[in-house]
Amino acid sequence: MSLSLVLTLLGAIFLLLLFRYILTPLFLSPLAHIPAAHPTSVFTPLWISYHRRGGSQALPAITRAHSLYGPIIRLGPHELSVRSQSAIHKVYIEKGGFAKPKFWADEFMSYGVRNMVSMQGGIGSKEHAGRKRDLGNVYAKSVLLGSGVLSDVAARVLRGMDEVLERIVGEEDNADAEKTGSGVMEVYNFNGAVNADIASSYIYGTDGRTNFVGDVAKRNEYFEHHGTWLKGKHGHAESQKWLEEFGVQLCGPGVSALRDEEKGGADAVVYKQLHARGLRGNDMASETLDHFIAGAEAPRTTLTYLQWELSRNPTRQARLRTELRTLPLDPTTDIPNLKALDALPFLDAVLMETLRLYTPTPGPQHRITPPEGTTIHGIFIPGSTRISASLAILHHNAEVFPEPGVWRPERWGGGDKERESLEEMRKWFWVFSKGSRGCIGKDFTVIVMKLIVAKMYSKYETEVMEDGNMEQEDKFLAGPVGERLVLRFRAVK
Ligand code: HEM
Repeated sequence: MSLSLVLTLLGAIFLLLLFRYILTPLFLSPLAHIPAAHPTSVFTPLWISYHRRGGSQALPAITRAHSLYGPIIRLGPHELSVRSQSAIHKVYIEKGGFAKPKFWADEFMSYGVRNMVSMQGGIGSKEHAGRKRDLGNVYAKSVLLGSGVLSDVAARVLRGMDEVLERIVGEEDNADAEKTGSGVMEVYNFNGAVNADIASSYIYGTDGRTNFVGDVAKRNEYFEHHGTWLKGKHGHAESQKWLEEFGVQLCGPGVSALRDEEKGGADAVVYKQLHARGLRGNDMASETLDHFIAGAEAPRTTLTYLQWELSRNPTRQARLRTELRTLPLDPTTDIPNLKALDALPFLDAVLMETLRLYTPTPGPQHRITPPEGTTIHGIFIPGSTRISASLAILHHNAEVFPEPGVWRPERWGGGDKERESLEEMRKWFWVFSKGSRGCIGKDFTVIVMKLIVAKMYSKYETEVMEDGNMEQEDKFLAGPVGERLVLRFRAVK
């Protein structure tokens, strides 16, 4: 081959690459009109990949880019981030919302099979709609608030929680008590334990439930594997295996609950519903394990931040206690009526504000545009473009939530006249996402957290003894970096 032919060939290849990787993304791609988060984001995903190293969600980088370049930005050649109401409506709500990208859905699979959260879904997805139907109304608010089962299982677990608190306040030496003094306890895993025990009772039945409140070693073992798996740490595969084996054990007693049904047993609400719809084996284990994990982890984070804020705000803590003490307790269960509890305005405001400011899943909720593409902000976006909104960014909109970084429950009303525009705030409150893929457990987790707070704060006051590093991790499930909050509990007359 002559030298001139070689040079011509090389020149042609160079021009082709220039056209494909520089000119097209810069001028010809429909995405060319969208501001780039970083100058290189137009050509390569290197910038966003760099910020995502080590399992990070790149939330600070995405937040900064939005504040510089507006409501729709280009994170990579084929990836966008949005933060406007019209955009999130299109991505997550309209026609059931866009599908999840495969890599993202796969993250949440267990036993190699898909559960609800790991289904890709998308417009008209029969698989996802079918599983939603299978679950029936087990997590519907009206069912939960009127449910004797939830009251009963919660009352049992909360009795156990109160026994632990009574013991540590009573100065006895036990596995929960720190050696630093009376009433002092590390609460991060303890909060997870109380939530896990209530969730597992409702899902698998009281025979099958975890006893993390009573069994500190098992609790810590679980959260250790859980953290390793979620954060993709070294040992991730082994921890996933451990969790899957644990999930199978939890499923076992559900079968006996089914047998007991003839005797009128009302337990294992979720297991029984799915069993009646034909779920068996790994499909059952995968679906229920996901609910259990969700029921333990996200509220662990929320309760820990709620206690941290209340402990640093004695006036608000006292106001909450006064409100809680207006509720009569059921003499048999020793917990309040669920409907009355749910209606308490200041308790609701405290929880909403904590969920807003310390969103447990604050980062991008990934989706992919449908094959025919879509139009957002008047710009055509081709099919198969990755697109997401980050929940914490929505919660920091200063026009809707003035001083967004400040924990101020009063902004939600709570009986105060100074409340901000409630309707607008609710529109921007996306902690459970929205649309057909919104959280199915949201009413369950809200009522359970309210019960725990009511039981704890009507009887005890708390102050911070040690709060290590309470900054939120930049992870999919974002707990405090220090994974530790030590409180002192004191019984209040
Ligand atoms: C503070 C507590 C919780 C928070 C902040 C939370 C948040 C979320 C969010 C943001 C999503 C959407 C995820 C996505 O689009 O990929 C979601 C979905 C989901 N959540 Fe929750 N969740 C919580 C508690 C629970 C509980 C207790 C359950 C147990 C029943 C649960 C079960 C689910 C399921 C099954 C989905 C998937 C729904 C679907 O794909 O259609 N969550 N949750």
